[in-house]
Amino acid sequence: MALHQLTSFTLGVPNLAETAAYYREFGLADEGDGWLATRDGGRQLRLVPVPARRLIELRIGVDDADDLDRAASRLHRLGIGAAADPAAGTLTGPVIPRKLGHVVIGTTDFDATTAFFRDGLGFQASDYVKDVGAFLRCSVDHHNVLVLRAPVVFPRHSSWQVDDIDEIGRGAHALLAEHPERHVWGLGRHHAGSNFFYYFRDPSGTFSEYYSDVDCVPEDQIWTLETFEGARGLFSWGPPPPPSFLHPDDHADLMAGSHSR
Ligand SMILES: [Fe+2]
Repeated sequence: MALHQLTSFTLGVPNLAETAAYYREFGLADEGDGWLATRDGGRQLRLVPVPARRLIELRIGVDDADDLDRAASRLHRLGIGAAADPAAGTLTGPVIPRKLGHVVIGTTDFDATTAFFRDGLGFQASDYVKDVGAFLRCSVDHHNVLVLRAPVVFPRHSSWQVDDIDEIGRGAHALLAEHPERHVWGLGRHHAGSNFFYYFRDPSGTFSEYYSDVDCVPEDQIWTLETFEGARGLFSWGPPPPPSFLHPDDHADLMAGSHSR
């Protein structure tokens, strides 16, 4: 596949220092210039100050310049101007995420956002949630972007790969020990993608997830796409998702903010 990974996620937050401190504790290495790094993927999270939390940028790695041209021409056919940026493509100790795995975007125009990633950039669809969600991949991971219908455009969560379920548990234990309010949902196993998960709330209100053992879809493998109805694709086991996971508490504030922008 010409696209091969998410290279970075830029999140705008109203409380920069507090949110950066949270992601240091989450296990990312603070490079001191707004960027934080994973173990294998390098500089993959950038925090910038804005009045209300929002997705600023998502960078996707490609193999070569021809891939950019193909994505640009597909986007052009969708009526979208393209200015692609050729981004480069233990049981003890603190948990350090290996890479940025996926980003989930809430959108008020589900069809257009899905078409942008799938038909424009060239992501492949792995599964759908009927009328609500599209799991899309640009690598062998089951999903790198999940587009979700929402009443406002906002970043739902970023997800960071750790080695195994033990690291998820240890990471959660450390993050929640003095800040139980960070807990959102976990520990469990998703149905779509089948990864183990644990979700936390960062100080800006954006969720961050530790995950491991996500489904892989090798390029030469035939993948049977499923369309899930309702919450069936959400989890195989674990506690039921709390209402605040499905409808983040700051939806009303975000909507008011987007109207005033
Ligand atoms: Fe996730």
